[in-house]
Amino acid sequence: MQTLPPNVTVLDHPLIQHKLSYLRSRATSKKQFRELVDEIATLMAYEVTRDLPLEEVEVTTPLERTQAYRIRGKKLVVVPILRAGLGMVEGIVRLVPGARVGHVGLYRDEEKLEPVEYYFKIPGNPGGREFVVLDPMLATGGSAAAAVQLLKDRGARNIRFMCLVAAPEGVAAFRDEHPEVPIYAAALDRELDERGYILPGLGDAGDRLFGTR
Ligand code: PRP
Ligand code: URA
Repeated sequence: MQTLPPNVTVLDHPLIQHKLSYLRSRATSKKQFRELVDEIATLMAYEVTRDLPLEEVEVTTPLERTQAYRIRGKKLVVVPILRAGLGMVEGIVRLVPGARVGHVGLYRDEEKLEPVEYYFKIPGNPGGREFVVLDPMLATGGSAAAAVQLLKDRGARNIRFMCLVAAPEGVAAFRDEHPEVPIYAAALDRELDERGYILPGLGDAGDRLFGTR
């Protein structure tokens, strides 16, 4: 059993782990890779959204009127970190169609491994919403921490971070900056290599999703 840092939840459901094994494989095609990222995001969304606020509604069944509960969908904002986070959006929005989508454009400078911002757009009233930041990879943690800081700077308060594969170094760095923001991952891997890639990892998620290498 892996001992997890307190800010991380690893979603070890057999379906998620099964699909992750194909995602890691270099033999997996671009088409399959996209489909797997989408499917894993849907499966993870079930747990990541477990404590979303509900509102009471009145419903008429074929027999009588009753009180029921619905997710306050407009309150949820999913925020993919461009580019690779885009691959996870549909998997969640399929389950929560009322969710809004914000975008944070960041790329990792390949020399310094530091995030560079190039785009930011989120819905209004961030203080009253629940944010789920999406990125398949948490490597050094720089991109995730920067995205969360940008959201906080605009007034967001309720934020969670969802990734497919995390590195211990990134989890620790993220926790130093945002100790109250929970990380949900499908796997916590061993370490980073000297180029900041996660080992064993799955390679470059953006390139595999979009076929750019
Ligand atoms: C990758 C990945 C994360 C980031 C993780 O994106 O999708 O955003 O690197 O690395 P970090 O934790 O060390 O910051 P990349 O910068 O390659 O951009 P892309 O999504 O456009 O490919
Ligand atoms: N970004 C990726 O896409 N993969 C890694 O392993 C590290 C950063």
